Amino acid sequence: MRVPLLDARRQNQPLEGELSAAFERVLRSGQFILGPEVEQFETAAAAVAGARFGIGVSSGTDAILVALMALGIGPGDEVICPSFTFFATAGCVARVGATPVFVDSCAECLNLDAGGIERRITARTKAIVPVHLFGQPADLDEILEIARRHHLAVIEDAAQSFGAEYRGRPVGAIGEIGTVSFFPTKNLGALGDAGLVVTNDAMLAEKVRRLRNHGMHPKYMHEMVGGNFRLDALQAALLAVKLPHLAGYTARRQRNAAEYTRALAGAASGDAMAIALPVTHADRTHIANQYTIRVRRGPAWRHRESPRDALRNRLAERGIAAEIYYPVPLHRQECFRELGPQPTLPVAEEAAGEVLSLPVFPELTAEEAAAVVAEILEFASEANG
Ligand SMILES: Cc1ncc(COP(=O)(O)O)c(C=O)c1O
Repeated sequence: MRVPLLDARRQNQPLEGELSAAFERVLRSGQFILGPEVEQFETAAAAVAGARFGIGVSSGTDAILVALMALGIGPGDEVICPSFTFFATAGCVARVGATPVFVDSCAECLNLDAGGIERRITARTKAIVPVHLFGQPADLDEILEIARRHHLAVIEDAAQSFGAEYRGRPVGAIGEIGTVSFFPTKNLGALGDAGLVVTNDAMLAEKVRRLRNHGMHPKYMHEMVGGNFRLDALQAALLAVKLPHLAGYTARRQRNAAEYTRALAGAASGDAMAIALPVTHADRTHIANQYTIRVRRGPAWRHRESPRDALRNRLAERGIAAEIYYPVPLHRQECFRELGPQPTLPVAEEAAGEVLSLPVFPELTAEEAAAVVAEILEFASEANG
């Protein structure tokens, strides 16, 4: 059976009438960038993140970039971020001329290890960027406490966790500012690129609003240098159609994740390899943007390739897509070589060789999920004899 990692068509097809109507409305309006469609979506989306302000931007990447700019972070500054994350988290730090300072991840949940932050703080540190990875919030209370003590800003990279809650509060605007991505693989996916900045700080919100449009205010007057990070009216209108369904999409992802956890709990764990399932902390919700297992090499694994790669290849042979998020931790990326020698980050380095994300999208059928489980169980029992 063929099982895709994501099939956006299954999600969008039932909404085709409404999406087409939204397209036609924008077409006829003649207003294609910012404007009322964007403003309405911003208000509705900010509410999901429990934020007073939401500013629509061109992508989750630009959301991080403009958040850093709004905080005045630039050359000479250092920003603490995880190494085990998508590139944009640290790439944006480098793009504003600051230095990403990498901290290892929690061995259990793979989010930023709060216990590793303080020893990396220097007089140059300006901010911490926790990433709510795979759909699960990071240890925000511990991170915020460290930030408060050292007078640092907290930028929540909630690209993968729109609508997730930490100790009863939606993530995004718990720190000073937060960023969201509506890349099509996210729980709320646009039909193209789109993102959001959220904050409860009126001054920061205004700054982001100006920076996303070349720092312009009023027209053709520039007190600061910004860029073009504007959100298209079309993406906002399409996202507004999908937003009321977000809770349902997330519930179905969580149902699929729970089913994997139930069915894979008995995966043979032996001398050759072991499968570790994702861990969700009891005080937060995991919105299952990814369902990421870890395939661990045991002493008896004699093949040259890692058991993770062997499992992924086996799944691919049987038509099942699975992806490695992320194969190389950021402190080992070529582009950051110029930062000089990097510390060893054992959790990030080990995770990069073990992680495998399974299809968990909302419209995954029970038969598809069962096929994924069956292949994994078969592989595990073969490997372990
Ligand atoms: C953790 C993280 N940060 C940032 C981004 C960047 O978002 P986008 O792809 O919308 O630019 C992504 C998404 O791909 C992400 O997963």
